[in-house]
Amino acid sequence: MNQAFGEDRTATARAHSNIALIKYWGKRDAELNIPAVGSISLTLDGLSTDTRVTFRAGLQQDEFWLAGNRVDATRVTRFLDLVRGSAGLDSRAVVESTNNFPTAAGLASSASGFAALAVAASAAAGLSLDDRQLSILARRGSGSAARSLFGGLVELHAGTRSDGLDSFAEPVLPPEAWPLNVVVAITELGQKSVNSTVGMGESALTSPFYPAWVETGENDLAAMRLAIANRNFEQLGQLAEHSCLKLHALMMSTRPALVYWNAGTMAAMHSVLELRASGIPVYFTIDAGPQVKALCLPEHASGVADALGRVVGVHETKVSALGSGAHLLS
Ligand code: DP6
Repeated sequence: MNQAFGEDRTATARAHSNIALIKYWGKRDAELNIPAVGSISLTLDGLSTDTRVTFRAGLQQDEFWLAGNRVDATRVTRFLDLVRGSAGLDSRAVVESTNNFPTAAGLASSASGFAALAVAASAAAGLSLDDRQLSILARRGSGSAARSLFGGLVELHAGTRSDGLDSFAEPVLPPEAWPLNVVVAITELGQKSVNSTVGMGESALTSPFYPAWVETGENDLAAMRLAIANRNFEQLGQLAEHSCLKLHALMMSTRPALVYWNAGTMAAMHSVLELRASGIPVYFTIDAGPQVKALCLPEHASGVADALGRVVGVHETKVSALGSGAHLLS
């Protein structure tokens, strides 16, 4: 319910992070943040962001507090302007956010961050948006955030419309339909050097592989949809590794090169390959950062976590099951 003018309007939301199996990299419209290729992801229950948005009359500018520290609000303000525009609201807001995992180290904090912000800000502003509209709104903040609106396995469509209204995410399978686990191996706790938005812009401009990346995207998506429909884990894993390695080949062939891996990343990848050679079905994927995410079935999760935990360069591991979609907490 809207509160009277002059009072705070507040809402709190939680969103889980997600990891793409078929990756998004590159935009067909940077202004509207429309991806050049579709993507398919897993929402993770172990990695989440809680965000409270409070629109407050009389506030001079938006404030963004991350884990209790005031940080640059430029990207948040640009996003809140969209919400204020739709709601006919002038007030600036205080945005307070906490992640339960390292921020900006390739664990997709912008995915859970903008998904939680979309849900909290639209509710606080009194907008009632359906899931598709929320996903489109979250996409404006960050492409991967559109997918964190939903739980389980999720597809984000690139769409073809110039207004981006057919570029939204939708659920492919609910979390309970296919229990899968992801073991995250953390190989670095610090900030990464080049953020995804900047990096993917440079890849589109400079990598000779970029046209091939865009051309082959639809095939990868179709194959992954089939693997999911058939609950074929080996197929899902093979496709996820292929999309990951193709993405990193694209990144490494960008000028200047985007090399997100460290020695621990390589060692963890080899550990996954060795586990697989020993008969355990486990596959890796890596985003725009040094962390390795190992995909496996629940019965192998603790063994995979133990093996990755012993790898030199891996600081810690975290096992996650499939998580639910973004939702209001208050
Ligand atoms: C490698 O969603 O962070 O994680 O839309 O510019 O905010 P922006 O990019 P972002 O990019 C995610 C890139 C990726 C792959 C993926 O999640 O699909």
